[in-house]
Amino acid sequence: MLNIDLPRSERIWLMIGGASLVVFFAIILLMALVWGFHNPGQMKTIAPDAVRTTPPFDKPGLYQVGPNEYRAVMIAQMFMYQPNNVTVPAGSTVHFEVTSPDVVHGFEIPGTNVNLMVVPGHITEYTATFRNKMDRLIVCNEYCGSGHQVMLGRFVVQ
Ligand code: CUA
Repeated sequence: MLNIDLPRSERIWLMIGGASLVVFFAIILLMALVWGFHNPGQMKTIAPDAVRTTPPFDKPGLYQVGPNEYRAVMIAQMFMYQPNNVTVPAGSTVHFEVTSPDVVHGFEIPGTNVNLMVVPGHITEYTATFRNKMDRLIVCNEYCGSGHQVMLGRFVVQ
């Protein structure tokens, strides 16, 4: 270890810098482990021109897979979501699986952790639990063409 004689103010600033690294890393751990923030997975691939004939996207919809647990199989396309309206009871955990047959779309439910990028050729997966009642739009937040601003769905927790 180098023994450099730094001025006192320099040492204080180094300590502040080091401490903020520790604080920011702790916040990342807190968000991931306690608040459940996760990156959406995009590990699975799908042929964009065969979306409508490839399970599960040949039958998009909301499927109950357990008590308070649902699977939302959804297609984001110019300029709509299919299904366009998803309604679940309060306390439900929803596993979203979304893909696009055309261009990149967004899939955001404002005020929740659900904010996904839907890329053609990939299946975007994300799981979220909804404890509180809400009635929200599903909005596309990636510019996808002339009808981008009318690309909306509805998400209801009742
Ligand atoms: Cu789809 Cu913007």
